[in-house]
This record gives sequence, C-alpha cells and structure tokens, in this order.
Amino acid sequence: MKMKRNLLCSLLVICAFIGSAMAQSDMVIPWVSNTSSFGSSITINNLNDSAATVTLTATRPTGDQATATREIAAFGQLVEEAGSLFPSLSGPPGFTVRVTSSASNLAGAVVINGTESPSGSSPSQANVVPASDAASILLFSYLFTPPTSGFAAPVLVNPSATDANVTLYAYKDGLRVADARYVIPAGAPFTDLTQNIFPSGVEGEFYMVAESDQPILGVVFIFNSSLEPSMANATAISSVPNPDGGDGGDGGDGGDGGTGSTVSFANDVQPLFSRRCASCHTSQSRGGLSLAAGAAFGNIVNQTADSGRILITPGSPNDSYLWLKLQTDSSQYTGSQMPQGRGTLPQDEMNTIMTWINEGAADN
Ligand code: HEC
Repeated sequence: MKMKRNLLCSLLVICAFIGSAMAQSDMVIPWVSNTSSFGSSITINNLNDSAATVTLTATRPTGDQATATREIAAFGQLVEEAGSLFPSLSGPPGFTVRVTSSASNLAGAVVINGTESPSGSSPSQANVVPASDAASILLFSYLFTPPTSGFAAPVLVNPSATDANVTLYAYKDGLRVADARYVIPAGAPFTDLTQNIFPSGVEGEFYMVAESDQPILGVVFIFNSSLEPSMANATAISSVPNPDGGDGGDGGDGGDGGTGSTVSFANDVQPLFSRRCASCHTSQSRGGLSLAAGAAFGNIVNQTADSGRILITPGSPNDSYLWLKLQTDSSQYTGSQMPQGRGTLPQDEMNTIMTWINEGAADN
C-alpha cells in the first residue's frame, strides 16, 4: 500500500512538473476588439536572451475560438493587429486572448484604437495580466450609466476550467444600489454596457465589485460619444464591501431595484424547494432527502443524504452537492439532474440558490 502511494505521488509530482514546464507563461488579455469602431494591437515582450514561441488563443463570449502562434526574438517584441492575428474573428463581438509559452519572463499590453473617433486612432492601453492574478473578488473603480454621457462596459474573464457564478454589485453614494448575476462559461469573457447590466437602481457614476466562485480577471472599458476609448485593469480586493451592515437592508421602492442583495431562506429558497422539489422530496425516500417546509434547512446545511456528500456547504456552491445536482454537467454527481426529468431550473431560481449559498446559507 505504502509503496503504491509513493509511486503515485512521484508520478503526480512529475506530471505537475511537466505541466508547468509546458506553460511557463500563462497570461490573459482580458478584452480585444476588432470591429469597425475599435481596432486592437497586441504587444508581447520577450524579456529573455533567447527566442520565445508564444501561442495566442482568442475566445469570444459565444465560445468561438481562433489560435495564432508567433516566434519573438530574444529581447524582442511582437506588435500585431488583432485582425492579422485572428482574421476569422473580425467584427463584433470582441474576445479575450490567452497567451501561453514555454518561456518565462514574458509581458505585454493591448492598445485599443477608436477608429471612428475624430482623430481616427485615439489610442488607449491596458496590460496583459498573468492568469495566476485571477481572484474571486474584483473592484472596477470607475463606471457610469446614463445620464453621464458616453458608454462604460466592465469586462470579466473566467480563465478557469469551471463555469463561474458571478454576482456584480453596484455602489453609489455609500450604498449598494443594484446587483446582477451571471454565469461566465469556463475560459470565456463576459461584457456588456452598464445600463444593460443594471437596467435600474443606478444612475451616473458608480463603482462595481464582482464576486465569483471561480477566480476571474477584469478590465474596465469606457468611451465618450466620439468613440474614444479608455481602459484600466480591475483590482483584486479581499472582501465585498457591505454598506448594509447588520441592519438587514431597507427594501428599496418597487421592482427589485432596491438594496435587496440578500436572499432569504424562508422567503426565497424554501418556496422554490416547495414548488419545484417537495413533490418528490416530501419524505426521506428520494435520495434520502426531504425538502419540505420545516424540514429542508435542517436536512441540507452541512448535512449529507444518501450520496454521503455535504448537500450545502455555506459560502461554497461548488462544494455543495445539492447545487451540483442542479447542473446540466453530470460529471460531478451520480444519478440524474434535479429536478428529475424537468430540465434545468430557470436562471433566476439558480441564482437565488447560488446567492443564498454564497451569502452563507443562513436560516434567514
Ligand atoms: C420527479 C421527482 C423529483 C423532483 C421533482 C426532484 N427530485 Fe431530487 N431526487 C429524486 C430522486 C429519485 C433522487 C435519487 C436518485 C438521484 O440521485 O438521481 C433524487 C436525489 C436528489 C439529491 C441527492 C441526494 C443524495 O445525497 O443522494 C438531491 C441533492 C436532490 N435530489 C435535490 C433536488 C432538488 C434541489 C430538487 C428541486 C429543485 C429536486 N431534487 C427535485 C427525485 C426528484
């Protein structure tokens, strides 16, 4: 037994070593666009005293991909238009670019030009980010919605191999004024104009925090009415600012544009379980699990059922078997996707469950 385990460990160590030797550099250009309004030029610096081969893989939000490989001379620099690197991805939408190489010591930037601006170029620059800088909480320091003139769009990239469940919070005048939830597929970018992300609840200048269950990267993109762009990388921060403190929020005024960032188990989650799950999960018979009102909470939070796996781990959807059982990707569980035979829950209901888990799976 012991020898077997030692052998396995040394194999794993070798594998890990080969893995890292294959990609000494792993970097992300969060957003590149090659449209009639915005062109991009990609720069990669080779700070080594020998030539480096780099592979650039572009991925659109839609999942469309293209790849280019270039050799960069010792102490040299690649400067190439996105349209020449990725001719198949011309036109909208833009894309994220992953840059990998067996060489270490690479860096880079992207310059986006407003090609329809009065000057015909109006350049703006942002840095290429090491994939290892990805973090679960990101700050986007300056954004705006109308009536501030121009347009603003945060870009988020999920460089991990698992889909990311992301909540975006908008802050204005010392308050958390709106939130929005998205699933960003593995390897893909997400972007939209701020007024589409937060259709109500925030006007003018604000800042935004993204909270994700997978490490993510980001960049902010703003441009004026002359289509002159400007960019800055998002910053990793250690916790989500919570101006609501302990006073439970104050409800907002009609619609859901208020401060309602907290999901309630009693008002939001249990009614969903009762409607969608309890028809089967009334007794302990289905998977050993009752999700009926009064029983569900005590049966799931830090509890196991027939699978023997923790059903809800507060703060961690991906360690929550109940959450995994709701996914179309069945590789993470045994048996069928829940609710059994009825497809995937609607996105807003998935978001309710995910947020409740992320907020600590409280009995609130
Ligand atoms: C049509 C009946 C039916 C509905 C509706 C249903 N389930 Fe299930 N569920 C089952 C059956 C049968 C099993 C056991 C077989 C399996 O795991 O696939 C099960 C198993 C499970 C398990 C695994 C328990 C364990 O530890 O093994 C979880 C978690 C679960 N269901 C959650 C839910 C949730 C959450 C909903 C509502 C969104 C739901 N189910 C709706 C029939 C149903």
